[in-house]
Amino acid sequence: MSQLENLKSELKNINQEYAKMKDLPPGQRKDFGIKLNAKKQDILAQIAELTAAAETGPVLPIDITAPAAPGQPLPSLSRGTKHPLMTELDRVIDIYNRMGFNVMESYQLDDEFHMFESLNFPAGHPARDGYDTFRTAEGFIPPAHTSTMQHRALIKYRQDLLNGGQIAVVIPGRVFRNEDVDATHEHTFYQCEGVFVSEDANLGQMLGVLRNFFEIYYGQKLRVKTQPGYFPFTEPSLEFLIEKPAALGGSGWLEVLGCGMIHPNVLRAAGIDPAKYRGFAWGGGIDRLVMLKYGLSDVRFFESAKLDFLKEF
Ligand code: DAH
Repeated sequence: MSQLENLKSELKNINQEYAKMKDLPPGQRKDFGIKLNAKKQDILAQIAELTAAAETGPVLPIDITAPAAPGQPLPSLSRGTKHPLMTELDRVIDIYNRMGFNVMESYQLDDEFHMFESLNFPAGHPARDGYDTFRTAEGFIPPAHTSTMQHRALIKYRQDLLNGGQIAVVIPGRVFRNEDVDATHEHTFYQCEGVFVSEDANLGQMLGVLRNFFEIYYGQKLRVKTQPGYFPFTEPSLEFLIEKPAALGGSGWLEVLGCGMIHPNVLRAAGIDPAKYRGFAWGGGIDRLVMLKYGLSDVRFFESAKLDFLKEF
């Protein structure tokens, strides 16, 4: 019996119930009548709703709540999957989280101050050119790196530091560069930034954090090394390299991020006294890590929306 038929038969029963009223002691009749009326109204309302729905027809092309009729195949609904970069970004964040880092998300539209000034690139600084920065007509900047968030992270967690704690935060985000696109360069990619400040932060701790991260991410012991680098917002500045995991068919070294001790001007700009506190920071691309992990040869697949590629994950 359909739901509508059920309701109609219930209505019939109720109408018959009314007959019982005359056999009740007079004191109980009113109460009985009220309850029966309420029930009747409820059923009438349900009938009206179902009748209206039947006239309008189904809203969805298929009724996703209907059980499949016996012997009939389920309708084929292909489910989407999470983008591989997002899956890996979750893993990256999870590792840092378990190491005690807070997480902030970077902006996809930022400004000159956060992109440059707050990071010790004064106007006219030659290193500004190295970032191939896009600009909107209004002068906004789709950030060319997640370092744009350093100033905000320092301010957001400054009080923890002043209360005797430390600042420990990672900031994943989407970044944009006006690059010539090829198999290893995209205009849009992902980075993860890290910022740590305490009274005695030092490069040894930084190398420990980074090595730990990469060994957990690739699930094996790794050799790491640094070489001198240059960034206006760190002093000294380093490039951090890992030995490509042999288990992934890799050989040689891969530069995975830039890092260093946070420049005193960057701390000062966020109201943190560099005579009392020191910090280290790092930032590097996520796409490249994922390419190494899965043996991918072309970074452009990530932004390509190619379903046959995405479906492999
Ligand atoms: N933002 C730099 C880049 O994209 C990488 C970087 C270098 C980040 C040094 C840092 C850092 O936090 O301390 O090229």
